[in-house]
Amino acid sequence: MTDNNHIPKQDIVLNIKDLHKSFGNNHVLNGFNLQLHQSENLVIMGKSGSGKSVMIKCLVGLMEVDSGSISVMRNDITKLDQSALDILRADIGFLFQGSALYDSMTVRENLEFPLRRHSKRFENDSDREALVIEALENVGLRDAIDLMPSELSGGMQKRVALARTLILKPKIMLYDEPTSGLDPITAKEIIMLMQIIQKTYGTSSLIITHDVDCARVISDRMILLIDGIDYATGTFNELSTHEDPKIKAFFKN
Ligand SMILES: Nc1ncnc2c1ncn2[C@@H]1O[C@H](COP(=O)(O)OP(=O)(O)O)[C@@H](O)[C@H]1O
Ligand SMILES: [Mg+2]
Repeated sequence: MTDNNHIPKQDIVLNIKDLHKSFGNNHVLNGFNLQLHQSENLVIMGKSGSGKSVMIKCLVGLMEVDSGSISVMRNDITKLDQSALDILRADIGFLFQGSALYDSMTVRENLEFPLRRHSKRFENDSDREALVIEALENVGLRDAIDLMPSELSGGMQKRVALARTLILKPKIMLYDEPTSGLDPITAKEIIMLMQIIQKTYGTSSLIITHDVDCARVISDRMILLIDGIDYATGTFNELSTHEDPKIKAFFKN
């Protein structure tokens, strides 16, 4: 993928400071902070409705923030114009909750879509074909290239969605509940795939999940989003053995 070798290991690729976001009287984020380091897997856990998806939508510019700053690779995205934002956005891969494939397009067409949107980077057809095949091979689905999404299982759809995200070779991956709605075995396969991708390409990943097993396996570090703030930060072991009742509640099954 991208050459990240020139970036020092501990460099911060994503920096959210004092993020506030309310909907009327519903104060969802009340000063949330987050720092994602180069090549790390950072897991965000929070109860349903705690603002995880809102946070990630602010991050990719799908939602406007009330206040706070969001820097992506040292660029404050709240201050960029549209074209600068588009260039930066190509470096961020976003795997939505659900697979969000285009139902009327084949797998190949689904994967070509982001290439066409960023057509300046990928001008000729043979390049595109090679990239589509490479992306599908990365998720073990080379043979599904001419199938329709409806012909795929839920797990396969998730893989195709992942391939579609990876095809632009993002430096940062954002996963919103990557294992929700999948059976435990398929969920494990997706987690393994995320690990392989991270190892192969040195991608920095922000992973939103409420799946404790997923967090245990994949996290280098975790942040617990409670009451609209980054209530606790630490490794899985640090947080899962913590005495604070609000933290404990996440890890008891
Ligand atoms: N577009 C919106 N308009 C109004 N309220 C919203 C909107 N999006 C999310 N919310 C509210 O923000 C809160 C957090 O939602 P969300 O981030 O989706 O939670 P989760 O942590 O489960 O991903 C919820 O109370 C939700 O109702
Ligand atoms: Mg959500």
